[in-house]
Amino acid sequence: MTTETATLIDGKAIAADVRASIKSDVEARLAAGKRAPFLSVVLIGEDPGSASYVRGKHRAASEVGIKTDNLAFPETVSEEELLAVIDRLNRDPEIDGILVQLPLPSHIDDQKIISALSPAKDVDCFHPENVGRLMLGLPGLKPATPAGILELLKRSGIETSGKHAVIVGRSNIVGKPLANMLMQKGVDATVTVCHSRTANLAEITRQADILVAAIGKADFITADMVKPGAAVIDVGINRVEDASRERGYRLTGDVAFDEVSGIASYITPVPGGVGPMTIALMLKNTLIAARFQEQESG
Ligand code: GUN
Repeated sequence: MTTETATLIDGKAIAADVRASIKSDVEARLAAGKRAPFLSVVLIGEDPGSASYVRGKHRAASEVGIKTDNLAFPETVSEEELLAVIDRLNRDPEIDGILVQLPLPSHIDDQKIISALSPAKDVDCFHPENVGRLMLGLPGLKPATPAGILELLKRSGIETSGKHAVIVGRSNIVGKPLANMLMQKGVDATVTVCHSRTANLAEITRQADILVAAIGKADFITADMVKPGAAVIDVGINRVEDASRERGYRLTGDVAFDEVSGIASYITPVPGGVGPMTIALMLKNTLIAARFQEQESG
């Protein structure tokens, strides 16, 4: 066991670099007489977490010159109303990207809404066509959190080729697409996906050269589950009660940061690790969607 402290992967700084490059692309578009990319954000209900994420997305978009609007609906909005809104956004040539913040209320079928999006405007890469394209290794929009994780690994000089990546979590947003991207040609990791029913979890996570925690359980990954020298990527954003904080909670990841940073070679903090990258890569998708829209309108 080593006692050295892992190198911190500064997602905030790397995301700022990604945004700077998006900003210069947006400026080049404007200089060429094109309009600014436009993102429509759909927010349903009053969940404070979702509202806070959405605020962050608007703020980051505005910083890079991407225009946005916020379409907020009460929790009681019907599926039909929402489908009608999406149809209108799909048809509007001035709107490049559409983002429907999840989760949706239980009376609305998430997949029905996602499948109604125009694949070319689906900046989350949640539409079945985009998921299929990703799986086939075809060009197109990439899901923001997994793409952000690959960018963090790349920019930190962490080798993926021939390495064993273990992902804990099998969600449609992170675990499944990330597994796919890590095993694509050119990335070339060997991938294991673990989940809540995995037997002997620690035995498997201890084999990881790259360990990704995406389960949504605070401090779930402890030092005994990590191989010395592994790179540890923490996707979790958990609210835990903390009376010492003014707001009554603090944000913490899926990794027990203090103990794991004593054994890993690299680690992402929460907040300031994967989170800012998700937003930055979603903005990159909006820029790509604006190029699709241009081709569409000739
Ligand atoms: N809810 C949690 N993460 C995400 C995300 O990446 N995109 C959307 N649309 N909703 C989310």
